[in-house]
Amino acid sequence: MMDSLKIATLLLLLSNFCFCAKLPSSFRKCDRNKKDFNQCLSKAVEDAVRQLTKPIKELGLPSMEPLEVPSLVIGAGSGAVAFEQNYQNTSVSGYGKMSCSKAEMNFETKTFYVHCTFPEVKMEFKYEISGRILLLPIYGKGPGAITLERVETDLTFKLDEYDKKGVKYFKVANVTLVMDPQLIRFKLENLFDGDEALGRNINSVLNDNWKEVFADVKPSYEDAFGKIYFSIFNNVLSKVPVNELFGDT
Ligand SMILES: *[C@@H]1O[C@H](CO)[C@@H](O)[C@H](O)[C@H]1NC(C)=O
Ligand SMILES: *[C@@H]1O[C@H](CO)[C@@H](O)[C@H](O)[C@H]1NC(C)=O
Repeated sequence: MMDSLKIATLLLLLSNFCFCAKLPSSFRKCDRNKKDFNQCLSKAVEDAVRQLTKPIKELGLPSMEPLEVPSLVIGAGSGAVAFEQNYQNTSVSGYGKMSCSKAEMNFETKTFYVHCTFPEVKMEFKYEISGRILLLPIYGKGPGAITLERVETDLTFKLDEYDKKGVKYFKVANVTLVMDPQLIRFKLENLFDGDEALGRNINSVLNDNWKEVFADVKPSYEDAFGKIYFSIFNNVLSKVPVNELFGDT
């Protein structure tokens, strides 16, 4: 009797209580009322991402060193790379060394922008391709890696605000990602059913012409990675209220 009363009281108390998640204490918190708010945000993003060597389940955050992407589809370009690229089990590493130099949260337009630099982003995957690159036939299936060096990224999220039990949350409405690498190296193994000479040849062609090759599929890359960041950020936003993220108004 007494126990059930206690439980009822406890439930009543809890029902008035916000079940929302807090940011882990290891995450930097930024207060929108402080002058250094935007600068703080750029370091907060950098810190948070660098710490993600394992997932944080409560926030729906995956491990980002490496980030595992089960399936990555890069759409066909209209010039150099005239076929769709399918990568399986892609492991993306380089997040542990990224740094963010600029961020801006605009509460009027509900836009969050962050600029980060990656010394190196390495994608290791299983590929299967068949088509033409720079007019040369290419086909094969096997393991491969693409390394992007000194990548400047501009990431912009357009947010929508909504209420959950009287508590304000954001969700991502739209994402725009711009990725600008200074160099790309390709290493596709087992091209042409393992013909070494042909394989070496095509890898050289890809590496010598990386700019042209990347330019053709850049929007597809940005779109694919933009969707990944959309979903990661959205997970956090769905759990952590606006005032916990950015301080009280
Ligand atoms: C991708 O990984 C899954 C799970 O480890 C495995 O079952 C699958 O065979 C892998 N795919 C390829 C193409 O290696
Ligand atoms: C997302 O943003 C892009 C670029 O600003 C814009 O072209 C597109 O229409 C937007 N999509 C939505 C659904 O708002």
